Amino acid sequence: MNEKHKLRSTAWFGPTNKEGFIHRSWMKNQGQPEDMFNGRPVIGICNTYSELTPCNSHFRELAERVKRGVYEVGGYPVEFPVSSLGEPLMRPTAMLFRNLASMDVEEAIRANPIDGVVLLMGCDKTTPALLMGAASCDLPTLGLSGGPMLNGRFRGETIGSGTDVFRFNDLVRSGKMKECEFAKAESCMNRSIGHCMTMGTASTMASMTEALGMGMPGNAAVPAADSRRNRMAQHVGRRIVEMVHEDLRMSKILTRESFENAILTNSAIGGSTNAVIHLIALARRIGVPLDLDDWDRLGRKVSTIVNLQPSGKFLMEDFFYAGGLPAVLRRLGEADLLHKEAPTVNGKTIWENNKDADNWNEDIIRPFDNPIAEDGSIAVLKGSLAPNGAVIKPSAASPKLMKHRGRAVVFENIEDYFGRIDDPDLDIDENCVMVLKNCGPRGYPGMAEVGNMGLPPKLLKKGVTDMVRISDARMSGTAYGTVVLHTAPEAAVGGPLAFVQNGDMIELDVEARSIHLDVSEKELAERRAKWTPPPPPMNGGYQKLYYDTVLQADEGADLDFLVGCRGAAVPRESH
Ligand code: FES
Repeated sequence: MNEKHKLRSTAWFGPTNKEGFIHRSWMKNQGQPEDMFNGRPVIGICNTYSELTPCNSHFRELAERVKRGVYEVGGYPVEFPVSSLGEPLMRPTAMLFRNLASMDVEEAIRANPIDGVVLLMGCDKTTPALLMGAASCDLPTLGLSGGPMLNGRFRGETIGSGTDVFRFNDLVRSGKMKECEFAKAESCMNRSIGHCMTMGTASTMASMTEALGMGMPGNAAVPAADSRRNRMAQHVGRRIVEMVHEDLRMSKILTRESFENAILTNSAIGGSTNAVIHLIALARRIGVPLDLDDWDRLGRKVSTIVNLQPSGKFLMEDFFYAGGLPAVLRRLGEADLLHKEAPTVNGKTIWENNKDADNWNEDIIRPFDNPIAEDGSIAVLKGSLAPNGAVIKPSAASPKLMKHRGRAVVFENIEDYFGRIDDPDLDIDENCVMVLKNCGPRGYPGMAEVGNMGLPPKLLKKGVTDMVRISDARMSGTAYGTVVLHTAPEAAVGGPLAFVQNGDMIELDVEARSIHLDVSEKELAERRAKWTPPPPPMNGGYQKLYYDTVLQADEGADLDFLVGCRGAAVPRESH
C-alpha cells in the first residue's frame, strides 16, 4: 500500500489514549476485529435508503455490495444514513428539502472518521443533495446511482413512469380513458426496483454523475434489477479505497471542463431542465464558475440524439441495451463536443473510458445527422418578463409554439390554478398563454414541479394538446410541453412575473431567446407600487431558514450560506 498522505480517520482511531479507546471500543461492539483500526481507509457509504423513497428501496443490498468491494482491497466500510428525499410522497415538494439533505450529508461526512465516500443516489433530489453536500467537504468521493426501473408494460404497450401518468391524466380529464383503466395502470407502470425509467430528473442526474466523471462508466443506465448493478457496486467499493490512496478528491474531478461535458451531454440525452438548477448549485459548492448562459451557449451546439421519453420514444432499459451513456459520450467525442481529457473517478480520462463504446441500436442512440431534435439545448430566455432568465426545453415543446404571442390567463398561485382550471366558463383558448405565479424557490416554497400545468378540460376535449405555459416553478423531468420555467426573479420576490395581469400580451421567441411582457414601464411601475409580497409559509423551523436564505433559480436555489467548499479538516476532539 503506497500511503502518500495521512488518513483522516487516524485522528480518531490512531491514538492510544482515552479518546482512541473510546473511538475503537464503541465501533468494536459491531464485531469489528482489531485490524480494522490499523490504518485501513475508512469508507463512508452514504445511504439514502428509505421505504418512503421507493426509488431507493433496494439500497441496503447495494450498500452490502459496496462493502464487499471495500473489504476486498483492505478498506473499512461504514454505512450511514442521511435524509432521503422521495419525490412521489414528500409535501409540499422534495425540492424544499434538497439543501437540508445536503447539510446533513456535509456535516455527517465532516464529523466522522471518514477518508472516502460512496454516495448511493437514485430518486431525483437525492443525487444533487448528496453531491452538493460531499462537494462542500471535498474528500475522495464516488457516486453510485441505484439504476432505473424496468420498462412499464400496460395493455401490451410500453409505458414510462411520469410521462405516461401525465398522458393518462389528460385522457381521463378529456373523457377518453375510464378511471378504472387509469387505476389498473398503477401497478403496471412502476413494476420493479429502481427510479423513474424515462429520461426524467433521476436518469438525467445519473447521467450527469457519469458525464461529470463522478460515477463509473455505465453508471446511468444499468437497470436496478440487473445483476450488473450489484457488480458495479462491488467495483465501486474496490475503487473508492484506491481513490483514497491516490487522494483523488472531488475538486480534482469537478473541473470547469467536467461541467461543460455534463451540459453537452444533457443536450444529447434530452435531459431534464432540473439539471440546470442542480449543476449550477453543485458548481458553486465546489467553486467552479457556471451560469445560465453557459447552458445556452454550450447546449445549443448539440442535438438530442437519445430517443427516450419524454422527448422521444424509448426508456432507460432500452437505452442500456443500446449501449447507454458510454455510446453517447463516444458520439460526443467523435463530434468534437467533449473535453476528452476530463478526469473521472476510475483514474482514466472520460475519453479513455468511452472511446470504444458500442452502440447496438441506432434508433435509440442516433448519429448526429439523424437526431430526434436539432436543438437539444435547454434554451435560456431573457427579457422584460425574466430579466435574470427562464428556461425551456425545446425538444419537449411544440415547434409551432416556439414563436408565439398570446393573451395572458393568470393564476395567482397553485390553489388558484386548481380552483379554476376545470371551470367551463374560464376565459381561455388555445392561443392564450397560461401564467402561474408564486411557485418559485421562495413562493411555493421549494419550487414545485407544477410548471407543466394541465390544460383546461374544455380545450383538451377540443383536441388541443399543448399551449404556452409560463411560471417560476420547475417541471418534472418526465414532463413535456411548451413550458417556460424557472422565471427569475420569481414572483414572490417581486420579479416582473408578479405584475402580469389577465389580458396582458406575452411574446415568446425561443430562437431569439426572448420572453417579453408587452406592458409599458410606467404601467409596470404602478403595479409594482401596489404590490405586497406573499407572507412566509412558516414563522419558524427549517422552512423559515429556507425562506430567509434561498437563492433564486438562476443561482441554483441553494441556501446562501451553503455556497462554497468548507473542506473536511478534522473537527475538535469531543470531551
Ligand atoms: Fe423517484 Fe421519479 S419518483 S425518480
